[in-house]
Amino acid sequence: MNMLKFLCLVILSAPIFASLHPKDYGPNLAEAIRHLHAECSIITGVSDLEIENVRNGNFAENNIRIKRYNTCLWLHSGVMLPSYDGVINLHGNKNYLLDLEPPKLKGKFAKMFMSCIDEARESGEKNFTVLAWNATKCLHRTDPENFVYP
Ligand SMILES: *[C@@H]1O[C@H](CO)[C@@H](O)[C@H](O)[C@H]1NC(C)=O
Ligand SMILES: *[C@@H]1O[C@H](CO)[C@@H](O)[C@H](O)[C@H]1NC(C)=O
Repeated sequence: MNMLKFLCLVILSAPIFASLHPKDYGPNLAEAIRHLHAECSIITGVSDLEIENVRNGNFAENNIRIKRYNTCLWLHSGVMLPSYDGVINLHGNKNYLLDLEPPKLKGKFAKMFMSCIDEARESGEKNFTVLAWNATKCLHRTDPENFVYP
């Protein structure tokens, strides 16, 4: 096989979706994602390309727009609840996360979120934008194939 044929095969057989395929979301997660994507895009003016980059594991450290989008997702999703008494006291909303679980990730999805939220809380980071960004990176690092990003 010549090199060109080989390269074509590699490119054609590469997965198109590096993250969880939308057909695997299940109804509850699909609805939550539609809602979050629309709302947080409007608030932050982020582009679909910037979001796609995160989906593929490219975290642009100097892009404040995508970081704000990410903060918006965590705050509006209701899966992580910051307290407003001046003390960082973040806990995952486990029942809600269980409701959102895609059928394909039963017993895995909520657990992964709970663990990354615990990690974010225990880091002691005071800046919620930084903390939420790290929590997203934790989710991607834990299971890039099943990463879900609205
Ligand atoms: C967030 O990630 C940065 C860079 O990876 C690291 O320096 C920082 O300690 C992390 N903070 C938290 C809150 O985990
Ligand atoms: C929190 O972090 C973000 C992103 O690095 C930064 O833009 C923002 O100014 C920080 N907020 C505070 C209050 O330091």
